[in-house]
Amino acid sequence: MASATAVIAAAGSGERLGGGGPKAFVNVHGRPLLAWSLAAFDAAMTIDGVVVAVPPGSERRVAEVAEEAGVEVEIVPGGEHRSQSVANGLVPVDTDLVVVHDAARPLVTAELIEQVVARLDHDPDISGVIAAAPVTDTIKEASVSRRVLRTPERSRMWAVQTPQAFRTAGLRAAIAEHPDVLGTVTDDAMLVERSGGEVLIHQAPPDNFKVTTPRDLKIAEMLLAER
Ligand code: CTP
Ligand code: MG
Repeated sequence: MASATAVIAAAGSGERLGGGGPKAFVNVHGRPLLAWSLAAFDAAMTIDGVVVAVPPGSERRVAEVAEEAGVEVEIVPGGEHRSQSVANGLVPVDTDLVVVHDAARPLVTAELIEQVVARLDHDPDISGVIAAAPVTDTIKEASVSRRVLRTPERSRMWAVQTPQAFRTAGLRAAIAEHPDVLGTVTDDAMLVERSGGEVLIHQAPPDNFKVTTPRDLKIAEMLLAER
């Protein structure tokens, strides 16, 4: 079985959630948001180690969250932007494969993590495998003045999530190759794609959504209570 290291991006400030502090520590159905992802990675058979990028200064608090969850982690300070946090998280990684995940997705499962790693390991020509769900709304591309430019065919559109599995060397190279866009990219696969890497979508449940707003938090509470 393939083995991979997890890099969990948990260094955001959670402004849109408005929880009065970093999102990773916001309580969701009785546990800090970050603890749900830690538990899923701990349960995933293919995961060898977990690195967490955290808001600088909150290292002690994250260590407590991990200890309470019974998960051994390596803690690194996050960067100004998400991609920089991921880059910092990659530094201690010494496995060939890496799985990047946003702490903001507490509904991730061990099964989904194992699936993206196995798919990547299975095919040496592939640079990355990313979790994504088919979109249900029609998507329009618009100009800044909101004039509709295009309506791409919905059946080919995917709402991209994490986990995203990569070859560690490939992701490191892609990050190093595009320092100019690190502040604007919204996922890691974008960087690998830009470097010419082939990235595959692995269909994932829409439940694995990102907690961004107070409404998302309510829905996550509800779904986690049902588990
Ligand atoms: N993240 C990170 N380092 C940053 C910014 C974001 O590790 N400098 C992480 C967040 O912790 C989160 C994930 O990237 O798990 C997705 O980001 P987002 O949902 O935007 O979270 P926040 O940046 O915390 O939220 P907001 O943008 O509302 O402040
Ligand atoms: Mg953000």
